[in-house]
Amino acid sequence: MKFYIATDHAGYRYKAQVKEYLSEKGITVVDLGPDNADRVDYPDYGRKCAEAVIADPGSFGIVICGTGIGISMAANKVPGIRAALCHDAYTATMARAHNDAQILAFGERVVGFGVVQSMIDAFVSTEFEGGRHTRRVAKIDEIDRDYCGYGTELG
Ligand code: RB5
Repeated sequence: MKFYIATDHAGYRYKAQVKEYLSEKGITVVDLGPDNADRVDYPDYGRKCAEAVIADPGSFGIVICGTGIGISMAANKVPGIRAALCHDAYTATMARAHNDAQILAFGERVVGFGVVQSMIDAFVSTEFEGGRHTRRVAKIDEIDRDYCGYGTELG
């Protein structure tokens, strides 16, 4: 299992902790920045992580900003990406089971690190259920196709 991780300055502190937690679990983690806690713009890092995940089929991502909102919005603009803003183990489980999310998003100013650990545990251990959810996820991809040409001859 391989994860890409990116944050803004407001998620920077958790980045090191999440990397350590994933490594302890034997999961490969690629740090896409930033390299220090200076102010940066979350869209740059949400995009970076989403582009890395799309370019590496089967990989996953974690994005963190203050709330998780802005960085997940940016990641979701990359066609084919399903980034889920989660708040607890339940939402992280459902993000995988029902939505086949490739990216877990959360806010450093919102959840404690114990909750982060439980979300990561849930996200990495839950498989997409398929079945009726396949049709619904395909309809999300259909929106990308209709608006961006993703999955067609255009991209
Ligand atoms: C940065 O102050 C903050 O706006 C950002 O981390 C994030 O919460 C935006 O959605």
